[in-house]
Amino acid sequence: MTRHDDRSPSLWQEIINRGELGGNPVIFFENISSTNTVALEKGRNGAPAGTLVLADAQEGGRGRLGRAWVSPPGAGLYFSMITRPRLCPAELPRITLAVGLALCLALEKGLGITPEIKWPNDILLAGKKCGGILTEAAAIRADTALVVIGVGMNLTTPLALFPRELQPRVTSLHEQVKVLPDRGILLLAFVEEIAAMLFRLEQGEFPDILAGWRKRDATFGKTLSWLTLGGTIVTGISEGPDGHGQLQIRDREGHLHAVLSGDLSLKDGM
Ligand code: BTN
Repeated sequence: MTRHDDRSPSLWQEIINRGELGGNPVIFFENISSTNTVALEKGRNGAPAGTLVLADAQEGGRGRLGRAWVSPPGAGLYFSMITRPRLCPAELPRITLAVGLALCLALEKGLGITPEIKWPNDILLAGKKCGGILTEAAAIRADTALVVIGVGMNLTTPLALFPRELQPRVTSLHEQVKVLPDRGILLLAFVEEIAAMLFRLEQGEFPDILAGWRKRDATFGKTLSWLTLGGTIVTGISEGPDGHGQLQIRDREGHLHAVLSGDLSLKDGM
């Protein structure tokens, strides 16, 4: 993780003051509904690829499947990157997997920890969720789209702020790593890894990215249950994502199911 001179103002503050990070514009809000919502609006109005929407707090932070993302002031990282990747519509689901790997690489290199990923978008530490990715696409064309990549990471988020039933399954970086770097240093590391990963994706390196993802797959070989779009609960053993990034689950009868989306739960735990 890039070192920052302790005598200068925090990199977080510098990023906000400069309105720029690594050549990309940064639009900062003390408090916003959701950085993804704002980034989608800015993207539709022509904001350039690479633009970051960053917030100290969110009042309507959004997660997958319509869930809320707990976003108290100063306690987490909440940002959205506007991208316009040269990918066809069928390749867009790959972005979430690629970004998950990017976040893991940044945490491994910078903090020496070993995060895992729960398909498709949960970043886990010690088996508990500490981060998530919300990828949203608009203006989808044959060879590109407006794609907003939203990242939320619990840094010092008090667990008491989560609904009681979720508390045993969530964690924060601070719970796992006692001394955390400045928020700006973490942000820079995440943004650099995401940009590098998107470049690799556009270069056709998804098979390599998937191989890296599989090494960090938290649920491979475990028994999972998921709610199908038809409303039934199916249980089976995870065989990890296939070459398209869809999760493969083998049920008791030996049938292989490709999970597109929906909610997954581990038989014992997450
Ligand atoms: C999930 O785990 O379901 C995804 C969570 C994504 C949360 C981030 S916080 C920044 C960005 N803005 C949002 O409203 N959501 C994402």
